[in-house]
Amino acid sequence: MNDLTYVVTSSRRPDPELDRQARQWAERLDVPFVPRAGRSVARLCRDERVDAALTITAERVTLRIPDEEVEYFFHPSMARTRIRNIIDGMGDPMVTAMQLRAGDEVLDCTLGRATDATVASWIVGEDGLVVGYEANRLLAELTAHGLATYEIEGPGVEEAMRRIDARHGDCREILPTIATSAFDVVYLDPFFERTVEQSQAMQPLRRLGLHEPIGDETWEHARRVARRCVVVKRRRDDEPLDLPGVIGVEAGGGSRVQYVVLAPT
Ligand SMILES: C[S@@+](CC[C@H](N)C(=O)[O-])C[C@H]1O[C@@H](n2cnc3c(N)ncnc32)[C@H](O)[C@@H]1O
Repeated sequence: MNDLTYVVTSSRRPDPELDRQARQWAERLDVPFVPRAGRSVARLCRDERVDAALTITAERVTLRIPDEEVEYFFHPSMARTRIRNIIDGMGDPMVTAMQLRAGDEVLDCTLGRATDATVASWIVGEDGLVVGYEANRLLAELTAHGLATYEIEGPGVEEAMRRIDARHGDCREILPTIATSAFDVVYLDPFFERTVEQSQAMQPLRRLGLHEPIGDETWEHARRVARRCVVVKRRRDDEPLDLPGVIGVEAGGGSRVQYVVLAPT
């Protein structure tokens, strides 16, 4: 994503209000606003010599990369289904790994589209706290906007989304600045380099997200910041990794995923 160039535009049909919103997005993201002028996104990108365009339409905000046929927009993915499973007594392996309960404070270091954070926020409730950091600026803005505006049915799901404190930042820089034992749980779900991700839903996120490795120092800061545990999500195809202080592993749904639990220091 860091090498991806893009502009902000609005819908094909002229609409002054959408143009106004698009200008605001452009200002916030510090990229040019370009009037759509009836052009297709592919044509607009060619004309402007950029890889992608963020389109602000009445329906949603979407990043389109025409040459790669990639479209990314916020949606909460499996969050509602997982919450429904919890309500139905089937549990959730991430929640089990975290030993999560009402009132807990969770730091999500790799927020992405905040699916995991939404499930965590639903569990910790109004008395708890979920703070999430996303390293990619555009993803962070899209997730913060989606969490604040996305409408979804399901008991307490929308409220759980609204309560998440979504921020832009690289956890490798943020964690060292956070006080010791500041959160019950510190959560990391980074992309591991050798992952062969099967999920179609994850592909656009993989295209945009940060892929830099998490180094030893960051794992140690995560353990320092956690009161109860650090939980690391891994997929079956992820590269082998020697994580420090492992005290447990919780198998995820369908066994493609596992949650590795690290002790605090
Ligand atoms: C696998 S996705 C996380 C998905 C997330 N758990 C969810 O439920 O939507 C990884 C995300 O973490 C972000 N990321 C990777 N390294 C990061 C870092 N050092 N600090 C903050 N975010 C990071 C990526 O940009 C990407 O959006």
